[in-house]
Amino acid sequence: MSKKGKAVLAYSGGLDTSVAVAWLTEQGYDVITMTADVGQQAVDLEGAKSKALRSGAVKAYVLDLKKEFVEKFVWPSLKANGMYQSTYPLNSALSRPLIAEVMVEIAKKEGAVAIAHGCTGKGQDQVRIEVCANALNPDLQVLAPVRDWQFSREAEIEYAHKHGIPVSATVESPYSIDDNIWGRSIECGILEDPWQEPPSDAYTLTEDPWKAPDDKEYIEITFEKGIPVAVDGKKMGGPTLINTLNLMAGRHGVGRIDMLEDRLVGFKSREVYECPGAITLINAHRALETLTLDKRVIAAKKELEIKFGELAYEGYWFSPLKDAIDAFINTTQEYVSGVVKVMLYKGQAIVRGMKAAGSIYSHNLATYSEGDAFDHQAAVGFIKIWGLPIKTWRQVHESKEAIKIPAQ
Ligand code: ARG
Repeated sequence: MSKKGKAVLAYSGGLDTSVAVAWLTEQGYDVITMTADVGQQAVDLEGAKSKALRSGAVKAYVLDLKKEFVEKFVWPSLKANGMYQSTYPLNSALSRPLIAEVMVEIAKKEGAVAIAHGCTGKGQDQVRIEVCANALNPDLQVLAPVRDWQFSREAEIEYAHKHGIPVSATVESPYSIDDNIWGRSIECGILEDPWQEPPSDAYTLTEDPWKAPDDKEYIEITFEKGIPVAVDGKKMGGPTLINTLNLMAGRHGVGRIDMLEDRLVGFKSREVYECPGAITLINAHRALETLTLDKRVIAAKKELEIKFGELAYEGYWFSPLKDAIDAFINTTQEYVSGVVKVMLYKGQAIVRGMKAAGSIYSHNLATYSEGDAFDHQAAVGFIKIWGLPIKTWRQVHESKEAIKIPAQ
């Protein structure tokens, strides 16, 4: 047992977190790493385990958390049509409370005194992980070696060599990437200039929309109580369903996002995302709500959706307001079951049809053809009373600027 006790480190297998293992060990901690599989594209889980141990970890957890991630974080967000600033489907933000929760659980199991992460002092992931971990267990210390050490890139590499940590010889990506099953976040490099169009090499999940197939493709997504359960009639578990849509919609260039984002840490930053499955599902889910929910419920929900997006973005996942919003949203989702037909074409996922057993669209009320059941005469009295307040107002206050009709 080391002098400071055990620390559970969120470990990606990259250079920063590997150096963090050695650095924390030097500071007197026994480091236990936790590598989460949340559906990243290029994750070498076995490699991560052996690299963690080689870097000095006393134990290395590698956990497949795809199902938990989808069921406890992605689906609640989808039910809320969760987006930050109406644009970003929160893919990175949603994984952090899960990572914090799992680290807190491992700390309990292992009797650790601290959790640790490899975030810098400029990002938002540090805020999310620390706020969530503090909420779940305020007694745990939080260590952020990358934020604390004063290494330059060169010094970090030298430190790695000294401690026998393999530094990969592969050419480094010009971007900072974070990805999981719900999407991929791309930052830094040339993207820091908002005038520059993101180069094609920034994307790996989506085809350039202008090179996507000339033929449109239709898919049908079945929802049960707000949750997607089947694609083209084929039942699938959450992770498989999202992966299927990532592939289908990605082929058509769906889900590219390029935004100037207001960070929680006070500055604006240019962010690029690709979220083909997420965008397809949010479009479909939102449409199905228009068919199945009352108009005032939709309007009230829209306001809470904005709040939901902010809370998830800002690290307030485990907050009482978020719980209360979830309760409202879950009530509404009781009715959001049905099938949505989506057309994928050149970067777009457009809803082209929908049906639901609980549809509150009434053809008899809406039709202008045979079978019209709308009471036309009821309109007379309705208009009289609906217009009464402004008629009364105008009788007292004349219109200031009447439109002048030229003589004919
Ligand atoms: N701007 C996004 C967010 O804050 C993406 C973060 C990506 N994280 C990363 N470590 N590259 O949610």
